[in-house]
Amino acid sequence: MAVKSPDNGSNLAKKRILLGISGGIAAYKAPALVRLLRKADAEVQVVTTRSAEQFVTHAALQAVSGNPVRSDLWDSNAEAAMGHIELARWADAVLIAPATADVLARLAQGRADDLLTTLCLATRAPLLVAPAMNNVMWSHPATQHNVEILRSRGVVVLGPDDGEQACGEFGPGRMREPEDLVADLQSSRTFSSPTSAQADGLSGGERPLQGKRVVVTAGPTREALDPVRYVSNHSSGKQGFAVAAAARDAGADVVLIAGPVDLPTPIGVTRMDVTSALEMHQCAMGQATDCDLFVGVAAVADYRPASPQTQKIKKTRSQSSGWALELLENPDIIASVAAQPDPPVTVGFAAETQHTLENARSKCKRKRLDAIVVNDVSDTSIGFNSDLNAATLVWANGELALAKQSKADLAAELIHQITVLFVEQLADTHPESVSKQR
Ligand code: C5P
Repeated sequence: MAVKSPDNGSNLAKKRILLGISGGIAAYKAPALVRLLRKADAEVQVVTTRSAEQFVTHAALQAVSGNPVRSDLWDSNAEAAMGHIELARWADAVLIAPATADVLARLAQGRADDLLTTLCLATRAPLLVAPAMNNVMWSHPATQHNVEILRSRGVVVLGPDDGEQACGEFGPGRMREPEDLVADLQSSRTFSSPTSAQADGLSGGERPLQGKRVVVTAGPTREALDPVRYVSNHSSGKQGFAVAAAARDAGADVVLIAGPVDLPTPIGVTRMDVTSALEMHQCAMGQATDCDLFVGVAAVADYRPASPQTQKIKKTRSQSSGWALELLENPDIIASVAAQPDPPVTVGFAAETQHTLENARSKCKRKRLDAIVVNDVSDTSIGFNSDLNAATLVWANGELALAKQSKADLAAELIHQITVLFVEQLADTHPESVSKQR
């Protein structure tokens, strides 16, 4: 659950943000970012790289942050006031905005050749980066490889946005706007990560799934026709990733089985990447043993091409009379999990366009699920690629509307409801660890 401050409702309240600024033109937006962070009641210390000083002055940053600004590892006065290791320990989160291609490369290599990169190596706090650079630099395989390395280490990559660039070109590479970065921080649940503030006892809160194993499936599956073509769907994976993060926040040990999506792994969650429904089925059946809660958010393809080809299919094959594609039914992953002799609490998701609740109820029964979350996908302002969602949680004896909200908040509400509704089943597996009171 998001850590909300009782005073101003911001989960940034009293949080200590180390803001790293590297030398991109977007650095001129850094004072605005500092102001917004402070408005959200966060404490901010700023560290710049040498080249950032070409774009923004220490005087401006000091004025808005209320703290001296540092860039030099060898500044003995600054080190005497707060040594760099102390500064690394001080941070609840490190945000680098803008993060240039060079800084991403140095972080990926684990270099410590200036104060900022040294702090990133020396801190246990979560690291978030907001890349900003020319679109060609962003798309370069070297930069993409560095970003992949950082993501695989749990670094949260915010953006970049698409649009007009300072160099006059258009494309991906713009730094996300300061207000978007603050909203990203607010919704990232960084501060309830077990690897960060929680470890220091800062975020507190209840952890009703402490000691429980939760498996979540997310994203679409791809069903190959040949090496270059596939059948798939529009699932972005955002809701499934949010459910995994919410289960983690509730204290669970979470495995996230992800279809092909372009999303960072939530910090502290074990991610397993799969492509097809058969791979997801195999992975899920392996992970579902000894699992307490299984949440199937993935939009699994119901069918796969009957004879995927190892070579690219030639157009001539289908020219004269069209091409009837023969399909085979995929195994139903969640129904297979629920049909095990000692199944976990099993919760499915369903996207419906009509007779939403009736269809959801019959699906829940047919697949022997404990509950199902149903989305009305005829409302295009929610679902699929949106950051918002609205749904109804349906179970044998009731239903509950989950109002339109961010996918992260909906996931937190869902996990809370599951821990309340199925407290006994969850407690049965490891009686000592599920709290019955919330
Ligand atoms: O039948 P439908 O696809 O609408 O059901 C949706 C639910 O079933 C989701 O929880 C989805 O993850 C799961 N499912 C599955 N395996 C399939 C198809 C759907 O686990 N082959």
